Amino acid sequence: MNILGIETSCDETSAALLGGGVVLSNVVSSQRCHGDFGGVVPELASREHERLIVSIADAALKEANITKNELDVIAATAGPGLIGAVMVGLCFAEGLAWALGKPFVPVNHVEAHIFSPFISDDASSLAPAGDFVSLTVSGGHTLLAVVHQDLSYEVIGRTIDDAAGEAFDKTGKMLGLGYPAGPEIDRLARDGDPGFHRFPRALTSSSQTSRSYRNNFDFSFSGLKTSVHTWLGQHDRSFVERHLPDIAASVQDAIVDVLVEKTIAAARLHGVDAVSVAGGVSANSGLRTALGEACRRNGLELFVPDMAYSTDNAAMIATMAGLMISRGRVTANAYDTAPFARFIPAGRGAH
Ligand code: KG4
Ligand code: ZN
Repeated sequence: MNILGIETSCDETSAALLGGGVVLSNVVSSQRCHGDFGGVVPELASREHERLIVSIADAALKEANITKNELDVIAATAGPGLIGAVMVGLCFAEGLAWALGKPFVPVNHVEAHIFSPFISDDASSLAPAGDFVSLTVSGGHTLLAVVHQDLSYEVIGRTIDDAAGEAFDKTGKMLGLGYPAGPEIDRLARDGDPGFHRFPRALTSSSQTSRSYRNNFDFSFSGLKTSVHTWLGQHDRSFVERHLPDIAASVQDAIVDVLVEKTIAAARLHGVDAVSVAGGVSANSGLRTALGEACRRNGLELFVPDMAYSTDNAAMIATMAGLMISRGRVTANAYDTAPFARFIPAGRGAH
């Protein structure tokens, strides 16, 4: 079965071809027009997707050596994301499917991230045999979920303010780094001392409050942002410049500590044997190392996506569509699926 996947929910325009369950092509164009604004400008993102979508889809077909008429299914992100940006890819994909008379599968972007560690480049299925705990960390989302074999899941924790990726991007902006700052903090942190300054780890066992956060799987990163801002105000610029790698390592350590502690605690509480991590922040080398070590210590198997499938990409959309089809989770005549902006967890039995 040949599935064309389309992804335009934020600032990556992407198209991918999945043939026989294997990724045949995954073309991603990352928009550069937002650099001067310190964040993604929704209107610019939509216009850029509109300008690129046809050529990106053409490139994905060409690279996979497949023609439009050989497509069996067309899939696209229906949300969550920037609504105008989602609409560009969704309308393009719905229109194409309708014109070709082929089924259209709307995909939830967050669910596609959850299953991205199991994207296959070589037809060998890697998925865990039982339930697993998924940590999904991106610029827009931070959530922990218990995921079942039938693709249903329960969200057990979410951020109550900023997403983990935002924590990287916003503290990075304060340090004078460009957008997105996550990869740059990651790079700087490699030469820094994570023990240079202890930034707060909110809602964890080390939180400086009398409340117990055992079995609380929600996250909060806004206090970290305030703490970095306050610390920067207390130190002169030359000191900060000199210690940029140390500050980056300390910020990264604070974020990673929280993510690892909660993920392991969730896995233990729910008695699963495997953990997965996905979303843009799963590209972070500090997180990959720390989570890997924690999983080893706790006898848990860890699934991480290939770097290419950590940040937004259409291979995960096509793969998710394939999984949905294999589990009978598709609606006929979905050509008029409406886009949505916010993440609405589907939950067990809701499909
Ligand atoms: O999944 P993604 O591409 O888009 C969303 O759905 O949000 O995630 C983008 C986020 C950004 O916040 C970016 O700073 C972060 O992922 N990111 C990283 C790294 N690479 C990307 N954060 C930390 N370390 C990285 N290496
Ligand atoms: Zn994403």
